[in-house]
This record gives sequence, C-alpha cells and structure tokens, in this order.
Amino acid sequence: MTPDWNRAARGIVERCRQLASYTEEPGWTTRTYLSKPMHDVHRALTDWLTPCGCEVHIDAAGNLRAVRAGDGPTLIIGSHLDTVIHAGAFDGILGVVMGVALIESLDARKLPFAIELIGFSEEEGVRFGVPFLGSRAVTGDLDDRAIALMAGPIREFGLNGAELPLARLKPPLAGYLEFHIEQGPVLEQLGLPLGIVDAIAGQSRMEVRFEGAAAHAGTTPPRLRKDPLTGAAEWIVEVEREMRHTSSLVATVGRINAQPGAPNVIPAVATMSLDVRHPSDSIRRGAARRLAEAAERIAGGRCLRLHMETRSDLPATPMDPGLTDLLEEAVRAAGFPVHRMASGAGHDAMILAKHVPAAMLFIQSPGGLSHCPEESVREEDVAAGLSSGAEFLRLLERHYV
Ligand code: HGY
Ligand code: MN
Ligand code: MN
Repeated sequence: MTPDWNRAARGIVERCRQLASYTEEPGWTTRTYLSKPMHDVHRALTDWLTPCGCEVHIDAAGNLRAVRAGDGPTLIIGSHLDTVIHAGAFDGILGVVMGVALIESLDARKLPFAIELIGFSEEEGVRFGVPFLGSRAVTGDLDDRAIALMAGPIREFGLNGAELPLARLKPPLAGYLEFHIEQGPVLEQLGLPLGIVDAIAGQSRMEVRFEGAAAHAGTTPPRLRKDPLTGAAEWIVEVEREMRHTSSLVATVGRINAQPGAPNVIPAVATMSLDVRHPSDSIRRGAARRLAEAAERIAGGRCLRLHMETRSDLPATPMDPGLTDLLEEAVRAAGFPVHRMASGAGHDAMILAKHVPAAMLFIQSPGGLSHCPEESVREEDVAAGLSSGAEFLRLLERHYV
C-alpha cells in the first residue's frame, strides 16, 4: 500500500518545527556545534528511529548515526543538525527528518542494502568559522587544526575525542543521498517542487583582520588616526565591487567585529569573515586573490597591519552521474517534472562526494528564503520529495537484487 505522503509531509514539517525549538537563544533558532540543545535533537531523533529497528548512536564528532540493517552495501542518507544564527526550521534538519520518514515507511521490508541515516553535527561553520566538521569526521578528512578546535566541545558534550577514527564510514557503500531545501529562488520561479543537483559551487572562507591604533574619539584629528574600521569599510565596498564585476560570483562579509568596541574609542582592530563562491574554482580563487591584494593595498595606504587566514577552500563538486541519473528516474517515476540545477549553497554532499557516489534532491524554498526565520517549505513539495525518495529506494533495490 502506498503511504500517504501528504500526511507524512505534514508530520515532517511539525517535527522540523519541534527540533527548531531546541536552541541556544530562546525565541530564535540557533544551534551551533555541540551546543547543549543538540542533546535534545539527538534524543528526539533517537525516539523516532529506534521503533523502526534502527541502531542509533552518537559518534565521537557528535554526528547522529542510525543504521537500518540490510544485506549488502550501505546507502547513506544524511544532512546536518546544526544551524546558522537566527536560522529557519528546515536548513539541514529537513533532510534528516525526511530520512526518518522514509525509513518509517519501509516498515519491516527487507532490502538488499543497509541504510545509515546520519545527522551531521556541524556543517555551517558558525562556531569556529570552519565548516563541515561533522561530515569530515565521517569521511576521515579532519586535519589536526580541526581536531584541535573540536576537542573542547567534544569533551564538554560528554564524548571521547580519541574515538574520532571510529566515526569513519564502513565500506561497502552504495552511495549518499541528501534531501535539502534549495535555499534560493529558482524552483519557485519555475513553479517546480523539486530540483536535482548536478554540481555544488566551490567556496573560500577567510578571516581578514585590520590592525590600527586605539585612540580618543574626541581628541584625535583625522591625520593622526590609524582606524582599522574605516579600512574595513573601504575593503567591504571592494568586496561588493568584485562581486558585481565577476559574473556568477558571490562574495560576502557576514561577520565584522571592532575592538575594543566603545563608542568614544577609535578601534584598535577590525576583524571580518569573507565567503567567496563560484561554479569555477579558477574564477573563485582569482577573486579571492584580488580581494586579498585589495586588503593589502588599503592597509598600506592607511598604515594598518593586515592578517588574512584561509579557513577553508572547497572545490566545486559535481554530483555522481550514475546516482543522479537514478534520482532523476525516481523523480520521473514519482510523477514530477525533472529539473537539474547547480547549488550555490554548500552541503555535506561536497564532502561525501569525494569518497562515495553522491546525489542531492532540492525541495522548493518559498520566496527563495533561507538562513533566516522566514525560511519555509510547502508540504506538497516535501511530499513530492518523499515519494521520489521512495522510488529511489525501489530503483536501488532493483539494482541490487
Ligand atoms: O553556507 C552554506 O552554503 C550552507 O548553508 N552551509
Ligand atoms: Mn544546509
Ligand atoms: Mn545553511
């Protein structure tokens, strides 16, 4: 009997809104790497997954790992549990809760493959400015700097960092499937419920710090000032100019901090984040290089010191052609229009794709809104994603019998 996907979709939206209430900031949804509310998210997901016969545990990086046993390779379904600051209720978490619903819909049906549902503990990079810590722990791609950053939160959360190597994926693997909101306006403008991702834009994340000299705001004339915040302002305009002059480039200063931060003190230090993305790695890296040169020019002209650090550099990542074709066949079999598109947003699929065939299915974002409380989904689009996901499992089953 075909499940009632509309009813399941209603339940998924309710569950996402419940999980969104597990937050560091009452009244907002903010859940960063291994913050206390992540315990509540783990508990709710475990309560939903255990009755489906899944073995659930939290790995040393704080990822939720739920395994539905099966003969043969493992299909991983996943997305992230952490959020940005003042987030919506669906970025990341929707993909995990849709995975729960698909597993629930299987009842006791034996499949020729196992399913592992992973709720990644850290994708956004809010806490340390370094993204994808959860999925990189699963793929074994953590460097020493990342492991050092994670040590404290892992200990405080009650986990054992020495067990990080145990978090790695266990082959044989059938592939990785991620459901995610589109976070942009394309599907709504086309009037489509779903998008099949063919590639994910590469991204550079940097920290840029101008250092000048703190001084009295009331007594220091312009010619004696070494004000890093005015230098930062001049540079931020350069960032926007670079974006406007380079087709398909996006460049963003999302965070700025001036110290000491008193209204009557000329700042000593201005620290900013930089996020640069483009489908072409050479164009992205060229833009990042030009912005670094602009920062040096501005610092020199204002007698400021400059420190720049690359926090992450992720290449543009194509999804696996074979698995993506299977996903397209599933969407068609479920009766929905097929639309292939690139993703400007980064996703855990970028990390998994280096190790296992990966495919992504986008769910329409009304208003193209995301990374804000107004983020939403339509139940009918979630239902379309679920029935396509069920068809995907059926096609994969046919592939392995
Ligand atoms: O920033 C991103 O692209 C994603 O939402 N983590
Ligand atoms: Mn996301
Ligand atoms: Mn996000």
